[in-house]
Parts: sequence; C-alpha cells; structure tokens
Amino acid sequence: MIDDEAYRPETLAVRAGYDPATGAKAAKPPIYMTSTFAYASAQQAKDIHEAYFEGTGPEVGSAAHIYSRLGHPNLDMVEQRLAALDGAEAAAVFNSGMATHSAIALAHVRPGDSVVHSRPIYGGTDGLYNNLLPEFGVHSFSFTDGCDEANIRAAVVAAQAAGPLKLIVIESPANPTAALVDIALVVRIAAVIAPRPLVVIDNTLLGPLMQRPIAMGVDLCMTSLTKYCGGHSDLLAGGVSGRLELIQPLRLLRTTLGSHLDPYTCWLMLRSMETVHLRTERAMDNARAVAEFLVAHPKVASVTYLGFLAPGTPQRAVYDRQCRAAGSTFSFRVKGGEAEAFRFLDRLRLLRFAVSLGGSETLITHPATTTHYAVPKRQRDVVGIDDATLRLSVGIEHVDDLIADLKQALDAV
Ligand SMILES: Cc1ncc(COP(=O)(O)O)c(C=O)c1O
Repeated sequence: MIDDEAYRPETLAVRAGYDPATGAKAAKPPIYMTSTFAYASAQQAKDIHEAYFEGTGPEVGSAAHIYSRLGHPNLDMVEQRLAALDGAEAAAVFNSGMATHSAIALAHVRPGDSVVHSRPIYGGTDGLYNNLLPEFGVHSFSFTDGCDEANIRAAVVAAQAAGPLKLIVIESPANPTAALVDIALVVRIAAVIAPRPLVVIDNTLLGPLMQRPIAMGVDLCMTSLTKYCGGHSDLLAGGVSGRLELIQPLRLLRTTLGSHLDPYTCWLMLRSMETVHLRTERAMDNARAVAEFLVAHPKVASVTYLGFLAPGTPQRAVYDRQCRAAGSTFSFRVKGGEAEAFRFLDRLRLLRFAVSLGGSETLITHPATTTHYAVPKRQRDVVGIDDATLRLSVGIEHVDDLIADLKQALDAV
C-alpha cells in the first residue's frame, strides 16, 4: 500500500486504495462479485463479528468481511481512495449522494434537535432538512449570505433557541448559482458553541481536487460521487470523509439502511477517479471560455461563473482563500423569463438538456422547473433561481462546438 502523505492528489487518484498483493498480483483491482464471505473457522466468525460491531478483538484491522451489505473489498478500495483524495483519515461510501446526506442526518440528529444549512442547497438536501426531518421533530434553519458573519450567526442563534444545534450543513459552491460559504468562518462559529455542532460540507461542485475542506477544519466532507468523480453520467454514488470516529458510525448505519455501493459500481468508480483531474481541468478550461462567451452575449442577463467574482468583494476574498479553481458548473440567466429560457433550451442541438452535472458531456438544465422544482418559489427567489435561470455543467467536448451551439440557440430566443 502506498503512503498517502507522500503523494499529491493526482497520484493518489491513480494509486491509493489498491495493493496488487491483495488481488492475486493483478495490476488493476479485481471485482469481488459476491454477497457473502466464507469464514475460516467458527472462532474466526465470532472474532470478525466482534471486530465489526464492537471494534475489539483479534480481527480488528484485518481485511476480513462478513456480508457485502456490511462491507466488501471493492468498497474498502474506493473508501481508501476517497479518504486519500480528501486528505482525511477515513471515508464511507454509499449508493448515492442523497444516501450519504441521509445517513449523516440520521446519525447525528434526533427529535427536538436543530440544524442550520446554507441556501441555496441542492433540492434533495433541501427536502431532507426541510420536509422529511421536520416530520420527525427536527428544527431546520438556513442562511443565504454565506460570506456574512451576522447572517450565519442569526441562523445559529435561532436554531439554538429551538433546540440543541447538532449540524451546520453547507454547500459551497452551491448548486446551481455557485454561491459561496466561507468555510473557515463557519468552522470558527461552530467552535464556540457548546456542545460543538458538526460542520458538514457538500463539496460536490468542486470535488476533492479543487477544494480541500478537511484541511480547513470541517468535520465531514460529503461528495456526490455521481458527479465529477464518476464523471461519465453513468452511475450513482456518494461518499463522506472525516475522522475515523465519525466515519465508523456512518458505516454501521449504512449496514442498517442497506445503502452500500455494490462491487461493480465501486470498480467503475475506482477507474473514473484515476482521470478525475484530467477531466476536471479540461472542463474548467472549457467553462471559462463558455462563460466569457455568455457574459458578452446581448441576450444573456447575468452569469454566476466564479472566475468573474469582482476583486475587493467578500465573495472574491472567500474564493481566493478556499477554492483552488472556478470549477465548471455555474448558472446564467437569459433576458426574459420562462418562455425565453424554454425557447433557448428547445433549440439546443449538442448540449444535452438533462439534470445532473460533472459528466464528460455538457449538461444544461432549468433549475426552477427541474432540480429545484420542490423548493418553494419564495426560497428560490431569495437565492437568485428565477424562471430565466439555466444551469450549465460544462464538459470536455471541443469548446468551439459548445459555443457554436449556445450561439445558434441564443440567436433563436
Ligand atoms: C450538490 C449536490 N449534492 C448532492 C446531490 C445528490 O447526489 P446524488 O444524485 O448522487 O444522490 C446532488 C445531485 O445533483 C448535488 O448536485
């Protein structure tokens, strides 16, 4: 096994998590297509169960497995690779980003507790914290300006008045507007609350190569691996990194929820992670050119591309501190409203009109009527998702072809 500390993320993306000595010397990871594992003896069976459920006994730290819902070799590999990329002690991997978010919430929140989250936040996460959990007696509060201390503190104070504050969940940059939350500021705010709430970040939009929240003091770094890490819009997966003491309960909960990632999808994920930096870099180059085209176009009202943040603004200072690059997902608004946005979408020939992001192909969507459909209109308005807003996830095609398609569709608006 390689020493994670000694290598850069691009190297870890290729090498971390698999040692040929464990796989009949195969240079690449075998797929362990099994639902169950044979015990060596009755005593070993008992010891493996003790190690899994109690964390004690002679099998602690061994590679032994019980049943694939509890864990399997390909899951171990992806978890080790994700932890290495995130610079964390450990990771837990699930069968979707939402399964990951749900496990984090179920592990840490009980009836009467409160949570605070940033806005905008992915529609599914919004539903979890504002529709489902309140039905179980959880109080949910949010803030919209993640770079303003007073705004964040006001949500925290309101939450504390309602019940013990257990989680501060932030998404930065946020889907779909690329709005930023000051990660270090949220960590500082959490640090003076007793008992201290956990700080959870959804790092999906930049991913492990372009933003490293664990090094900034967050407790749990969650990523929808469906997006940039999977990278080809052909699988669903999610992961969370952090200290082992926080990851271990999530793995145990996953056993109950049955939300582990299956061996074949783990193998696909390992393969995809090897090229995540190459795909991300090319997509980001394309995104800059596309954003520059859009911002100069007379039929475009605004563009939220992070590379355009004005120097001297609080958002720009936060961006310079915590983001390694501007990413390739952002939104823009056409002049007009829903009719103009729909006319534009229906004219596109190359760009694919579909939800999701972070794939090799460029995807475009209309958040108000798709990804953020279930978010109440007044909430959407506050964070700048209106009827003219379109989200773009720029892929790795030739940029001239992308711009030509955008141009002919805009001409038709
Ligand atoms: C920012 C963000 N977080 C979480 C999710 C949920 O991930 P998944 O679709 O893998 O469940 C998404 C999905 O679009 C997302 O955009």
